[in-house]
Amino acid sequence: MGVERVWVVLGIALGLGLSASSRADDLIATADSPNHGLSVKVLVDGEGRLSYEVDRKGAVLIAPSRLGFLLANARELDGHFSLVGQETSTHDDTWEQPWGERRFVRDHYSELRVHVTQKAFDDRRMTIVFRLFDDGLGFRYEFPDQPQLKNVKILSELTEFDVADPATAWWNIGGGWDQLEYLYQKTRLDQVAQANTPMTVRTDKGVYIAFHEAALVDYASMWLRREDGQRLRAQLVPSSVGAAVDRDAPFATPWRTMIITDRAADLYNSNIELNLNEPNKLGDVSSWVKPSKYIGIWWEMHLGLATWSSGPAHGANTADVEKYIDFAAKNGFRGVLVEGWNKGWDGEWNGSGADFSFTEPYPDFDLAAISAYGLKKGVHLIGHAETGGNMARYESQMDASFQQDVRYGIDSVKTGYVTDAGTDRMLAPDGSIVYGYSDSQIGTQHYLRDVLAAAKYHIMLDSHEPIKDTGLRRTYPNWMSREGARGQEYNAWGNPPNPPNHIANLVFTRMLTGPFDYTPGVISLQGHNQPIKATQAKELALYVLIYSPVQMAADLPENDAKYPGAFQFIKDVPTDWDQTICLNGEPGDFATIVRKDRHSDDWYLGATSNDEARRVDIKLDFLDPGRTYVAEIYRDGDGADDVGDARFRIAIEKQKVTSTDSLTLKMAPGGGEAIRFVADTAKHH
Ligand code: NOJ
Ligand code: CA
Repeated sequence: MGVERVWVVLGIALGLGLSASSRADDLIATADSPNHGLSVKVLVDGEGRLSYEVDRKGAVLIAPSRLGFLLANARELDGHFSLVGQETSTHDDTWEQPWGERRFVRDHYSELRVHVTQKAFDDRRMTIVFRLFDDGLGFRYEFPDQPQLKNVKILSELTEFDVADPATAWWNIGGGWDQLEYLYQKTRLDQVAQANTPMTVRTDKGVYIAFHEAALVDYASMWLRREDGQRLRAQLVPSSVGAAVDRDAPFATPWRTMIITDRAADLYNSNIELNLNEPNKLGDVSSWVKPSKYIGIWWEMHLGLATWSSGPAHGANTADVEKYIDFAAKNGFRGVLVEGWNKGWDGEWNGSGADFSFTEPYPDFDLAAISAYGLKKGVHLIGHAETGGNMARYESQMDASFQQDVRYGIDSVKTGYVTDAGTDRMLAPDGSIVYGYSDSQIGTQHYLRDVLAAAKYHIMLDSHEPIKDTGLRRTYPNWMSREGARGQEYNAWGNPPNPPNHIANLVFTRMLTGPFDYTPGVISLQGHNQPIKATQAKELALYVLIYSPVQMAADLPENDAKYPGAFQFIKDVPTDWDQTICLNGEPGDFATIVRKDRHSDDWYLGATSNDEARRVDIKLDFLDPGRTYVAEIYRDGDGADDVGDARFRIAIEKQKVTSTDSLTLKMAPGGGEAIRFVADTAKHH
């Protein structure tokens, strides 16, 4: 029986009634967001247990939710807490991204720092920091340097998120065998089991909340486990070497974040994730970090037309790679990715990775000749390091492989970690090799070591089967992109393949975290013995809808050549943006995003529907006023549909527009639309 309950019982016994004595929680600190729309309250109950509450526009949005930890090497950081002091401050500045969805990012928040102590447990201290933005908040725990708690072994985090109003959730499984590559589910929030983040919810009163974390560094990743009702708890990914987290103080946990908006589109427009990460630690990267598009020896393997392994169908052979280089040079692609170039693919590579060499090419792949041939034509080979989840083996060759890349002019590398969740072969802090989750604390250490080693050699990274994105590209801007969701490859061999609502789900969940190397552009709309359920216009729209500073044109060059009209958009669309606006959308239904090119005055639009035909009206008021644009429209043509030949009914047309015009997007079932707005050359005022 808790102290609160004791007081209630005592109160009844004394005939005092419930009102005074049941109100056991004391408000110890509070703060508002800059526009006062959001506020947080920090409470302590009669037993000294901490909780927080989030109010929005005067109503409770997150009901009192627990804060604290269970430790493996000391008494719990739960209960016995009292307030030592608090500070509030405000912050407002604008910083510039080296590349990104927008060039300038405003970081405007109120901060509340709450210092608490457990007098009964050696006076141990902890600070909880809240940052309140107008469109959401983040909070984290800071563990100060103190003799009473030098080493912190976190068994379990007690942080809760209790959504006050009944809600619907868009989520996918946290802790399932297939890492992050699950389809999204839409259920009532009280039907969620254990979700990965981001998880997006909409309350029945119409408020959207996206739960996630920011700056996941040297700490276990967070799943959301539903405890009861709509109360979720931070479930730390287990470690294979001890407590979920083992750190020496001082340190801070990742930020637990909630983007909170009235419109789904504004979830996407939020910058909370980046703002809660540390500024760039790599200095000026402009000479070596370059957003660009690429093609590659890739889709042919997923179609079963070529192999990663050696033999007569080996994809990575010198003659074929040189043909890809020619195609890239002719069509303006900077990169050519070649998978299966290195030894190790002939055995059971998937899930053991024991044979991989990250420096030795197969004999039919002449690395020196190919890279020289590419560089002569201004085309860069993209390195590929599939580890099969064997991080330890990869790390033993990581430096040697980056050194070799530098020798051959390779300045970007795609990695891969194909294995079942929990079976990665990882390096423990003491140097021993253990199996475990790639998103456990020691998994996060691996991904960061890889990024830092790459940075040392001025190499850009694109991680597949990665740890989830928590905005670290701000701090390490050579971490260009990653997978971390179901990509195009599922359209080749997935059972089921990606359904028509997949993209509209991604925009309001996975895409809230950052770039996704989805590998769009399969304009032949054909997987391995299965059709892609989408229209050609939608496949083009992916270049705008799914942000990635490295963006693939994934189809076979001979297929690109079959559809020169559609392929033109893939050639034109840039990968680095000055501005980005999500105009509208609903998770799983539809979405429209517009972006302004960072290197010209042109704008681009991408829109998707789900399996329904849909009309969406948009105002063009994002365009610069007083200018005329030629809109190059790639839309679903008459009779377009996401099955059979109707998928190829695309209408490509031009129309003059200005910022005072409106357009109606008419999307087919499984359809979409892509537009390039080419700015007139006249100077604007
Ligand atoms: C999975 C990646 O997502 C895919 O792009 C790659 O081709 C394979 N692993 C092989 O590395
Ligand atoms: Ca994958």
